[in-house]
This record gives sequence, C-alpha cells and structure tokens, in this order.
Amino acid sequence: MQQNKDYFVIEGFGGARKLKGKISINGAKNAVLPAMASSIVFKTPFNIKNVPQIEDVKRMSELLKGLKSKVSHKGKRGLTIDTSKANKTVLDKDISKRLRASIILIGPMLSRFGEASFPHPGGCVLGARPIDLFVDGFKKMGASFEEKDGYYHLKTKTGKLHGGEIIFKLQSVTATETFLLAGILAEGKTILHNVALEPEVISLARMLVQFGAKIDGIGTTTLIIEGGEMLSAGENDFYEVIPDRIEAGSLMILGAMASNNLTIENCNPEHLSLPINILRESGANIETGPNFVKIKSDKKLEVDTMDLRTHEYPGFPTDLQAPITVFMTQVCKEGTIFETIFEGRLNYVNDLIRMGADIKMWDAHHISVKGPTLLKGREVEGPDIRAGIAFIMAAIVAEGQSIIHNAYFIDRGYESIEKRLRKIGVKIKRVSN
Ligand code: EPZ
Repeated sequence: MQQNKDYFVIEGFGGARKLKGKISINGAKNAVLPAMASSIVFKTPFNIKNVPQIEDVKRMSELLKGLKSKVSHKGKRGLTIDTSKANKTVLDKDISKRLRASIILIGPMLSRFGEASFPHPGGCVLGARPIDLFVDGFKKMGASFEEKDGYYHLKTKTGKLHGGEIIFKLQSVTATETFLLAGILAEGKTILHNVALEPEVISLARMLVQFGAKIDGIGTTTLIIEGGEMLSAGENDFYEVIPDRIEAGSLMILGAMASNNLTIENCNPEHLSLPINILRESGANIETGPNFVKIKSDKKLEVDTMDLRTHEYPGFPTDLQAPITVFMTQVCKEGTIFETIFEGRLNYVNDLIRMGADIKMWDAHHISVKGPTLLKGREVEGPDIRAGIAFIMAAIVAEGQSIIHNAYFIDRGYESIEKRLRKIGVKIKRVSN
C-alpha cells in the first residue's frame, strides 16, 4: 500500500497567543498496538474500545489479517479481533518495515504457534533500533534463531516456548510487552527483570490479568508470569485504551506557547507530571483536573536556563523531546537537551535551524538552544511522528507560511490532526497529492 504524499500548509501567528478552546485526546497509539497484538493469546474474540483512528492501527490490523485473524470495527472507535483461525507465522514484510510495534506480535506468535518469521522491524528512524533484547530473550525461552532471505526465523523444538529468567540490559517498552505476552502461553514461569514502567506497559499487564493471565509485580521493575491457557473474554468484555499522554503532552506544550485559554480533555494528567511541572516552572499557568489540563498562560514566558534530559518513565519522555525543544526556542535564553534514549532523534533540529532557531548540535545526544527566537515559516520534512508534530508546533508560532511534508508520519500517531487543530484556531490545511 503506497503511503500518501500529503503535506500540511500552515499560516504562523508570529508568536501571538491565538489558540483557544477545547481539544479532546484519543486513545494512546503505544497502548492500542500492544493490546491488538495481545489478541493472539486470546481463544475468544477480543474487544477494544477508545481506539484512535491512526495509520498505525490500520497497519497492525493488516498484519493481524495477514495472520488469518478477523479484525472488525464496532462503532467509530471499537475493534473486535478474532484470532481463533489464525495460523500463519510470517509477518508481512512491507507492513512490518513501517511499524516498529510489529515486533510485539513475535512473542505471542512464538508461544502459541512455536515459530515466527519477520523482517527487521521498521517504524521511525531514531537510530539503529536493534533487536538484540528480543533475540537473546527468545533464545533463553527455547527458540532457535536464524537469519535468511531478509527474514529472521525463530522456532522452538517442542512447538512451545518454555519459561525463563531474562534480565534486560535496557528498559525497553516493546521488549517488555513482547515477553509479557510470550510468558502467557510459555510452559512454566517467566521472570523479567529491569522492565519498562511506561503507563502503556502497566495498562497492558493489568488488562491481561483482567482476562485471566497470572502476572505478579505489575508496577515494579520485575514481572513474574505464570504460563497457562489462552485467555478468554466475554462478548461484552473489552479493553479501553488509555489516553495518549504524548498527544496530550504535545498539545499542552503548544498551548503554553500559543494560547491563553486551552483545555485538553480526556487525558490523564498523572501520566504527565514531569512535563506539567517543567511548563509550570517556566511560568505557564496550568490547571489540572482528573481528566483535563487547562493552559491559561496570559503572559510571554521567559526562562533564563532550562536543562532537560530524556529518560525512561517516569522521566521526561523522549517522545516529547522534539516538542519541548520548540518550546525552548520560544521561551528560553540558554537551554540544553540530552537525548539519552535514541542516538538518531535530534536530526530534525537542522530544519528548526533553517526556521531561524539558534541551536547547536554537540553530538548525536546533545544540543544547546539559545533564544527566544521568532521563527520564520519554511518548507520542511518531518522525519518521524514526533518531529512531525514539533514542526507543526514550530510553524504555528513562526511568522509566515510553512509547508510540512510527510503528513503520513504525523497521521501514524495523531488522528485527523489538521481538523482538530483548526477547531482551536490553527490556520492549517492538508494538501493531498
Ligand atoms: C517504544 O519504542 C515506543 N514505541 C516509542 O515511541 C518510544 O519512543 C520508546 O518506546 C521509548 O519510550 C512503541 O511503544 C510502539 P525501546 P521501543 O525499546 O520499544 C534500545 C513513538 O513515536 N533497544 O524502549 O522501540 C533502543 O535502541 C515511538 O510513538 C536495544 O538496544 O523503544 C533504545 O535506545 C517512537 N535493543 C532503547 O532500547 C533492543 O532489542 C529504548 O528503546 C531494543 C531496544
């Protein structure tokens, strides 16, 4: 399937605070994708609610259908996935190349079918994105590994994985999710050490327990999974996808730069404690409630210094690194960013510099920002989902017109972004090629 060549055209407000109103947050991309993958360990159809209408959900649906699963829509934001007839064990190459989360399917496929073949997973280019944690972990659970004809082939001798004890050298979100799912049907106990603590991981684990999985240690860095039967859900049972904290965080940062009255609804401020605190320390007037964040910044924010490093949850999320860098160019005299998670996640700054930002890249992990600077509209290419939304934010605060290519990348993680931004006053339109 050819991805679209759409682009966005945005008229900037030159730093004026013109945005106002309410914007509602959708289900989290990084929660719905592992939940969809978990359907492989269900013997009954599995209902998911609050599904965001984003490209990555379509790709994951296509992958599941490629495995002979049935994926049907229930209303605007519901999915029902029935994998009872699933029997294929090879992931579609083109789709897997566009979706890093495709790798999460390997855990449940291996533990249910005893084998799985897949290409090196793609998705956002944020550096090498190795898969050594996955290969090492599956070997510990009894799978053999072979690379042939551009595919990785994992196979078990007995047709099942057996439990194992895995100490992750890094806290990896999708590795944690993949082995959580692998442990559900593995024979015996699986112990995972140094797991990721992202809210999406916790939500997945809690959902699996709700439908019969035996998992201890949820919320700690060690998970213990007792392997057993396939899970089952009643026809009226469902998993409700948690709100997208990265979408909410991106819009909150936008509001702090360009609004004096913006309400972000259907979000979970508890998942954004650190980003909210950083904006408040910058002088932004932010009110939070059980499921909303209200930005009432009525004055120009000025900060002498801001030094930020990205960090696994509950640290500052790497997925908000590009948005907060744009914020820094607007409010900060001297700022630094240390991107600790990915080695290729600062390349977008070159286009921000072309827009007039005063940024120096010291190495693949460190930049410094001088400001505040009035940005100028430019024609730019979003290299990934989160840099794409950051360019939209930069274009809104810049003066003049910007063109942002690779709308598909943004559509991967943000539903109907131009329609929703127009509702709060952004002058944005999509040009479809
Ligand atoms: C998840 O990616 C998210 N994706 C990413 O969001 C997010 O940026 C990332 O976690 C960090 O929070 C999904 O959940 C679908 P990692 P993931 O494994 O799991 C290294 C977005 O925009 N590593 O936690 O792929 C890796 O290189 C996306 O929504 C290995 O070395 O990230 C990185 O340095 C982008 N070997 C670190 O671990 C491995 O086998 C953490 O990456 C696996 C990972």
